[in-house]
Amino acid sequence: MSMRTQVGIVGAGPAGLVLSQLLHLKGIESVVLENCSRQHVEERVRAGVLEQNTVDLLNEMGLGERMKRQGLVHHGIELRFGGRGHRIDFDDLTDGRAVTIYAQNEVIKDLTNARLKTGAQIIFEVEDVSLHDFESPKPNIQFRHQANSETLQCDFIAGCDGFHGVCRPAIAAALTLYERVYPFAWLGILANAAPSSEELIYCHHQRGFALHSMRSPQITRLYLQCDPEENLANWPDDEIWTELQNRFDTADGWKLNRGEITQKGITGMRSFVAEPMQRGRLFLAGDAAHIVPPTGAKGLNLAVADVRILTAAIVDFYRTGRRELLDKYSETCLRRVWKVQRFSWWMTSMLHRLPGDNPFDQRRQLAELDYVTSSRAASQSLAENYVGLPME
Ligand code: APR
Ligand code: PHB
Repeated sequence: MSMRTQVGIVGAGPAGLVLSQLLHLKGIESVVLENCSRQHVEERVRAGVLEQNTVDLLNEMGLGERMKRQGLVHHGIELRFGGRGHRIDFDDLTDGRAVTIYAQNEVIKDLTNARLKTGAQIIFEVEDVSLHDFESPKPNIQFRHQANSETLQCDFIAGCDGFHGVCRPAIAAALTLYERVYPFAWLGILANAAPSSEELIYCHHQRGFALHSMRSPQITRLYLQCDPEENLANWPDDEIWTELQNRFDTADGWKLNRGEITQKGITGMRSFVAEPMQRGRLFLAGDAAHIVPPTGAKGLNLAVADVRILTAAIVDFYRTGRRELLDKYSETCLRRVWKVQRFSWWMTSMLHRLPGDNPFDQRRQLAELDYVTSSRAASQSLAENYVGLPME
């Protein structure tokens, strides 16, 4: 069986779905191929912080209705260290920009519904996806679906299939990889407990980093730094709560609300970039091309920034026949990608307990936190990056 579209998109994560909807709004057809089920994609628990740029775009795309009702707009974050909290005030430091706490899987549900409502094709549970002829003007994607072999002919292929997908490996020989794997991980929980603070708390502690986040006024999301090889079985619920309380403790007796833990998981931490993010008519976007550690919650936002750039380039190609923007896609994306890599690496290195417990590094980290929370220039730099650097 063979079908045809303008843009073949591999992966129905934030990158693939935002791209497909943006193209649709510009009158360009696409088909999205996803190897998991719709339910799995919609239930996957990931980060939940949307930059102002991402929120503005989702609103412009007509997808803001549920986000406006259920999202929590945050005008600052707390950095906690030495048993004291220090607020970074986004309103003051970024001229009223903010972030919105709205879970990634809710964004996915809104996008999937919007796409399917327009009759778009998102084909879930495809198998054996392979890319062909993308260095010619007539690329195609082959895959199996419900035991049939299928071919999708297209003008362009967007590799939006995440870190473990097949698109980046298809051009592996042409790529330079930049990578840093951190010697720690995050143990994350979702709990039926009201958040213990109105804002996110990034906490540096001798026992390790901890993060207080949330999903709703009834659900708290918490993380604690652990060993990458940590076994979840060694972490009964009570011990997780005690460890979190220890790390978040303040001189004035701050108490963490507890509740039933409904989800537990361990997330590894890496920084990764593959360059260039394109070859012929194949364009990589989002986690397929780069990974940031979760400190700062930039993964989804960066994926959205990529596909905005890709959309503009594809639209320009169909309107004018010019390839300039397409040819510059990788270069344009990477300027932002590396700045966001720097920020995520910096937040990670400032806040985590580092291996070896070198006393020099410990003092340096505390000095950095002290500087960031006492100098307007330094807190403004953090705030500007956290709410999202302007789109070029
Ligand atoms: N064929 C089809 N689909 C695939 C394949 C494949 N061979 N391999 C992976 N996929 C799908 C995955 O199941 C997933 O749904 O591609 C999608 C990739 O989505 P994400 O991993 O979410 O990547 P991306 O869209 O780039 O999102 C970027 O948002 O989800 C957050 O934190 C996450 O940082 C990430 C960011
Ligand atoms: C989350 O809510 O899951 C979250 C928030 C902030 C981060 C990372 C994850 O930096």
